Amino acid sequence: MRVALLFNSKHSIEHPADAPVDALAEYDSEETTQVLARALRSAGHTVFPLEADVTLLDTVRAVSPDICFNIAEGLRGESRESQVPALLEMLGIPYAASGILANAISLDKAVCKHIWRATGLPTAPFQLFRIGDEPLNDDLAFPLFVKPVGEGTGMGISQESVVQDEPELRERANWIICAYRQPALAETFLPGREFTVGLIGNERSVCTVPASPLYDERGFHVFPVLEIDVSPIENAQGIYSSHIKSERPMDPDYLCPAPIDDILALELQDLAVRAFTAIGAVDVARVDLRLDEFGNPHLLEINTLPGLNPTYSDIVMAARGEGIPYEALVNEVLSLAIARHGLAR
Ligand SMILES: Nc1ncnc2c1ncn2[C@@H]1O[C@H](COP(=O)(O)OP(=O)(O)OP(=O)(O)O)[C@@H](O)[C@H]1O
Ligand SMILES: [Mg+2]
Repeated sequence: MRVALLFNSKHSIEHPADAPVDALAEYDSEETTQVLARALRSAGHTVFPLEADVTLLDTVRAVSPDICFNIAEGLRGESRESQVPALLEMLGIPYAASGILANAISLDKAVCKHIWRATGLPTAPFQLFRIGDEPLNDDLAFPLFVKPVGEGTGMGISQESVVQDEPELRERANWIICAYRQPALAETFLPGREFTVGLIGNERSVCTVPASPLYDERGFHVFPVLEIDVSPIENAQGIYSSHIKSERPMDPDYLCPAPIDDILALELQDLAVRAFTAIGAVDVARVDLRLDEFGNPHLLEINTLPGLNPTYSDIVMAARGEGIPYEALVNEVLSLAIARHGLAR
């Protein structure tokens, strides 16, 4: 097939002078896009790498691909991860991974948590601060964790995200509102172990799943649970921060399969599938979870455009933990989209 690989590369985006240091953390490196293109080519596809900037309308029409492999984070704005899906849908071009709505929900952690709560899924109590001096909700107890409502790759997250009292909360929320120009999300601090669960697939009832023993009766393949233990990193204080994710001063311990009992592993995997279907995600995602003080799991967030760096992206490590190589992972995601769009030959 003719496959257009759509991405926003770090080097093509300008870092505004007044933006926080981690402002470009979400965008992809040249290494990621090159290795991804090579992986798709290894399955026999003709691959056209395209920068998903304002030229995309012209370049994607010129290429006229059968399907796109979209990893573009979008250029700006609160629903930026939906920009490329919206453009492709306007043009009638099929693409892999989630669509406009699921990407917008996944990027907005507060909207996502509202949906999960309404679905009965466990996620910590929270409050959104748009202006910074809203009265504090009664159901929130300190310590709280404060983060930008719509970022990824740990942007705006450090040990200082944990606040012990109201003055600290106000200060942190105001900093996020000003520096990241978006609301701050405050939620109960979850002091327990941290896990991430990658999955591929689509609900069988509504989609065609490739006839493969890889998928369970629901239509999903859930990778083994990956535990992220940042304790070897000095001063990390249990937080998988922007500094650790982007600067990589030292690697956390990535344990896959996580050394947990089968009951907890199955519970985490089941929560990941339910978190995925609750927001209408398709093809692929990675769900982050943490345990509370009693050992109960809570959903932190879902990434419908999970990083696909061949070396250090969590979902790639989780697939590798099961013996699934990088090329097989990305081509499986593309196969799911091909089947979902009815393009299988
Ligand atoms: N409520 C919380 N309690 C404790 N730690 C938290 C909480 N929320 C976030 N964290 C810590 O901050 C990290 C980043 O948070 P989160 O996953 O929400 O942000 P992100 O930037 O979207 O991440 P990603 O890189 O996965 O896109 C988590 O991996 C975890 O270590
Ligand atoms: Mg995360």
